[in-house]
Amino acid sequence: MEPAAPATMLLLLAFFLAGPITALAGAERTPTLVFILAGQSNMGGRGGATVGGKWDGYVPPECAPSPRTLRLSPALQWEEAREPLHAGVDVGNVLGVGPGMPFAHTILRSNRLPKGSEVGLVPCAQGGTPIANWTRGTDLYDRMLTRARAAGTGKIVAMLWFQGETDTIKKEDALAYAGRMEAMVRDVRQDLAMPDLLVIQVGIATG
Ligand SMILES: *[C@@H]1O[C@H](CO)[C@@H](O)[C@H](O)[C@H]1NC(C)=O
Repeated sequence: MEPAAPATMLLLLAFFLAGPITALAGAERTPTLVFILAGQSNMGGRGGATVGGKWDGYVPPECAPSPRTLRLSPALQWEEAREPLHAGVDVGNVLGVGPGMPFAHTILRSNRLPKGSEVGLVPCAQGGTPIANWTRGTDLYDRMLTRARAAGTGKIVAMLWFQGETDTIKKEDALAYAGRMEAMVRDVRQDLAMPDLLVIQVGIATG
């Protein structure tokens, strides 16, 4: 038999290398514990991103990827989670690192998790939006629900909501906030048919 030409060998090598990788990426990897990440830039992540500039690309250890942390992509596929976690979701903004990855690492450190647990993060945040943009029927609300359902409502452990500053500028928005937040929680629980859905909220104190 004639020795294979180098180009053919390279092609074969590429084929063998690509085989298992493609198989892995295409396999149905589904996380066991799903968390919805919603809110504004504080959730979307601006760590290392300067306004009007670029992300510096630095990923601190607490934001590093882990084989046990997946994210739901903009196209509703599970993939390995990595910063910027909200890429393709928090559109039109300069994205950096945020609280999602450290949260996942903290969950995975718990010694009470069933063996083999994997965390699935569902980024939904959109920077600079008032909570009025998240009421039932709005684009952001519908996008969040679509993504939550695609992730599998049976696996959702909690929705994390990190308030943004947009509602801290005008007094009337600040005063309306609690009622709007309550309405959103009520609607999400109803629309996902999860009456006991845990919602973890970070509020922002203002001077
Ligand atoms: C927020 O709401 C305003 C007013 O309805 C709308 O014009 C704007 O497009 C919304 N923004 C987003 C990001 O949904």
